[in-house]
This record gives sequence, structure tokens and C-alpha cells, in this order.
Amino acid sequence: MNYNKKTVKDIDVKGKKVLLRCDFNVPQDKATGAITDDKRIRAALPTIQYLLEQGAAVIACSHLGKPKEGPDPKFSLAPVAARLGELLGKEIIMAADVVGEDAKAKAAALQPGQILLLENTRFEKGETKNDPALAKAMADMAEVYVSDAFGAVHRAHASTAGVAAYLPAVSGFLIEKELEVMGGALADPKRPLVAILGGSKVSSKIGVINNLLDIADTIIIGGGMAYTFAKAQGGSVGKSLLEADWLDYCNEMIEKAKAKGVKLLLPEDTQCAAEFSADAKPVLHDTMEIPDDMMGMDIGPKTIAAYTAAVKDAGTVIWNGPMGVFEFPSFAEGTRAVAKALADTNAITIIGGGDSAAAVAQLGYADKMTHISTGGGASLEFLEGKELPGVACLLDQ
Ligand code: 3PG
Repeated sequence: MNYNKKTVKDIDVKGKKVLLRCDFNVPQDKATGAITDDKRIRAALPTIQYLLEQGAAVIACSHLGKPKEGPDPKFSLAPVAARLGELLGKEIIMAADVVGEDAKAKAAALQPGQILLLENTRFEKGETKNDPALAKAMADMAEVYVSDAFGAVHRAHASTAGVAAYLPAVSGFLIEKELEVMGGALADPKRPLVAILGGSKVSSKIGVINNLLDIADTIIIGGGMAYTFAKAQGGSVGKSLLEADWLDYCNEMIEKAKAKGVKLLLPEDTQCAAEFSADAKPVLHDTMEIPDDMMGMDIGPKTIAAYTAAVKDAGTVIWNGPMGVFEFPSFAEGTRAVAKALADTNAITIIGGGDSAAAVAQLGYADKMTHISTGGGASLEFLEGKELPGVACLLDQ
């Protein structure tokens, strides 16, 4: 896939109406609707500010959550408009719909230097179906399409991909940076390239493991999925997370690593618990010998030593997925130790969104990383080497 895409710098936007797709899908407090992390709004600011400085009129749009039945106040972008206005120190004009009368009238009246935010794109049923009529209606309000919604580029939706058929389409600075850092790490990494893969399920990481076995020098496996690997190798994993359908696949991956000369590191020891609870007392066992009444919750000290040593000498580290149940302080040590090792190394360190980004932030190491992706699913599909519709639709350099 070609990641060398035209950006806002390659197109004249002065005096033009620009439809800007952002990923404003921010976490919200369930009870109050308050935004609990505004990182994705902040990440869009450089492109918005640039467009305004260039004299564009910005029509911003995004999805929020997964509304299924059309407009629903619970999923309104109004809280995003308020936060965006605070961050920019500017009025955000809010449309009551996506391509309805209100949006059209406000878009038509929009002046250079002003920002209009459309309502949640998923209030239109055609959005997730990539309906060409919806894409065209959005495009009709503008003259240029800029996508900066890295977190949503794996979706072939009307506002993330379809609209590019009707307007000159370029990337914003966030997508440019994500492609540059992650694309660079995959295409021409500073070696050794160490990939750390955690999280609960082998099944959700198969594509990544398979793709990275062709690229990485070392692959480190942690988190719940390590127990499926342990079982596949003949170990006893007690009540640990297990995906019985994926045992053969784990063994295939171990064989593929051997054939390719990739070091595949698996946990040697495990902090276990009798029950899945924050109050459970950690008990250390060898990963292959977890008793029937125990479950693995985190990597143990021997494993931490091996994993942090591999990171120390790396040229590039890509990390996706925690090493254990880091939400419980008694089982956060493996994830914390790996995060610290990344913070201390001179390697290029890339955190692939989602849970690992949350873990690094929660443990206080966020500012020590080279790059923390704003994409969860998107960065995973990127690491799988899949074509991303929201990138493929942009103009090539
Ligand atoms: C994300 O949060 O990963 C993106 O905004 C995509 O959201 P979605 O999974 O609802 O498409």
C-alpha cells in the first residue's frame, strides 16, 4: 500500500470550504457525558489551525460512538464542539444535522476563518454503508476534502472514504505523522525491530503476529494470549484465558518464527490469582505449570527481565497490548516494567493505540514515547499490513 499521500500543504485552500474528517470519537463519562480524555481533539488542532490560517472555511465532521437508530442526543457531538471551542479559543458553529437543511444552510453561509461542526456522521444510516448519495451530499457542501481521522481510516464509510470520490482528497498532519512513523517502522525500521504484543486474545492479534513475523527481529508475547501459546506448547494453564481453537495456530507461528530466524519470546513465569479480582493475592508460578485452581494475571520477574533486556538493545520497538491485567495494581507490574523499559531505551518507541496507549498514560510514561498512535483498530490493521480505505482514497504524492 502507498503511504505517500498528498497533504494539506500540497493543495490551495485559501478562500475554500474544506470538509475535514476528524476522529472525535472520544471517551465520555457514562453518567454525565463529560469528555474523559480529549487527546483526539487536541490531535486535530494543528490541521484545523493551519486550515484557518490559510483562509479556509472548515466544515469538520466525525462519528462518536455507535448510534444505530439515527439521531440520538446521547451521541451528539455538542460536548466535542464545546471542548474544541475552548482549545481553539474560537466559536464553533454547530449544525443540528449532517447533510440536512441546517448543515447545508450553515455550510453555505460559512466564511473563511470560521469552523462549522456537523452532527455525528453516524446519525445518517448511509454513513457506515458508505452510501454514495450521502458521500456526495457531504462533498457538495465543500470544495476540498481533508482527512485527519487516523483512528477511523480502517473504516470504509461515507465520511472516511466515499466522499473522496467527489472532491480532491488529501491528509491532514495527524494522518501524515501516523503514516510516517508507523509506516517507516514497518518499511525501513532501525534494527533490531522488537514487537511486543499483548492483550487477551490470540484471535485478535493473528494478523499482526503473522505480518510482523516477516518484518521484526524479535516478537515478544504477553498478556492473556500467552496462555494459549503455553497450552499449545504442552503447558498447564489452569483457569487462565484460553482460546482452544487457536492452539494449532500458535504452534504454526512458533514454527514460522524458527524458520525465519525471528526470536519469539514467551513468558517463563506468571503472577497468578485464584480469582479475577483487584483484591486477589499474586502467586508466582512457571507459565507452563499453572495449577488448575489458578489463572495467569501478569508476567513474572524472570519474564520481565528477559523482555526488558530485549527492549534495551532495540533500534525500534512497537508495542500493542498490555502484559497483564494492568487495571489491577497487584497485576500491573509486567506492563509497568515494559513501559519503563521503553521509556529508558534509546530506541524509537511506538505505541499502537487502544489499551497500550491507555496503560502508558496511566503509568505516567506517555511523554517518554516517540509516538503514541491515536488509532486503536486502525493501528492494529496498519500493523497487519492491511489496506486502509481512509488512506487509500487520498491522492498520491
Ligand atoms: C476508534 O475509536 O477506534 C475509532 O474512532 C473507530 O471507531 P469505531 O470502532 O466505532 O469505528
